[in-house]
Amino acid sequence: MSHSANLTVRKLNINLKEGFDRHWNGGNAFLSAWFNALSMSFPFGEQFFIDAVRAGEKHLGNKAADVEMRATIKNFIGQEATHRFLHTQYNDHLARQGFHNTWEVRAIAQSEKLKKRIKHSPYAHLHELGLTAAYEHITSVLGYEVMLSVNEPHDWLANADSRLQTLWRWHSAEEMEHRAVAFDLYAHLGGNYRRRVFWFTFAILRFSLDLTRQTTRNLWDDKTLHLPSTWWSALQFVFGRHGVVRRLSGPLLAYFKRDFHPKHHGDDALLSQWLHVNQSSWQRVG
Ligand SMILES: [Fe+2]
Ligand SMILES: [Fe+2]
Repeated sequence: MSHSANLTVRKLNINLKEGFDRHWNGGNAFLSAWFNALSMSFPFGEQFFIDAVRAGEKHLGNKAADVEMRATIKNFIGQEATHRFLHTQYNDHLARQGFHNTWEVRAIAQSEKLKKRIKHSPYAHLHELGLTAAYEHITSVLGYEVMLSVNEPHDWLANADSRLQTLWRWHSAEEMEHRAVAFDLYAHLGGNYRRRVFWFTFAILRFSLDLTRQTTRNLWDDKTLHLPSTWWSALQFVFGRHGVVRRLSGPLLAYFKRDFHPKHHGDDALLSQWLHVNQSSWQRVG
């Protein structure tokens, strides 16, 4: 059964063409570099998710549940395509600032290798969907944390450039909103537990490594890698009282439960509330 009907595609009323500060996130070099690294992974990553879901869609039949799933998939693709569009603008500005996106280069090579390896498998679409569902769990857990910390002292975006604050919260809200789509399609097409946790293990290791490498590279390009303040921010961010280890480990590892479902985690009321309070920042598309 699909849990994600009624997804809304939204266009955000922000313009990044004029660019933004190098340290747009409250003047904090580390926090800016970390979010920039994430942004660098999106245009390629989200295209991969779109392609995987499209390939899976071809295996759907004509039952009511399949038809409903197709409608949900259409809006999922609309959301991810909108994310790609804005993050491409964002990343173009990072390139102008002298940042090098090495994550994307690695991701392209990795995905070519993966596609070659599974080319002849009758389960190729389930492998790609399994990997997509895994990454979608990671993005929704991150998105939930972003939404949960709005107006809290440990908000990662507390002092950010208001346009980028809106961009990240909107993206976070939609990652939460569509968090079950790839997972439901995977399960609906017969994807099993073993393959699901295999791809999650793969994704979480890959993601942690790639995110660390790209954040480090961004700080290097920013010439702030050697500063003690950078390292202090990084340590707090990872191991602090409100650090990612404490905040994210539980929700991420929940994916290993046999009866896991994305809708067990997160809070749809939270995202509706943010979307309502910030309704002047976006418009419904279609
Ligand atoms: Fe997205
Ligand atoms: Fe997503």
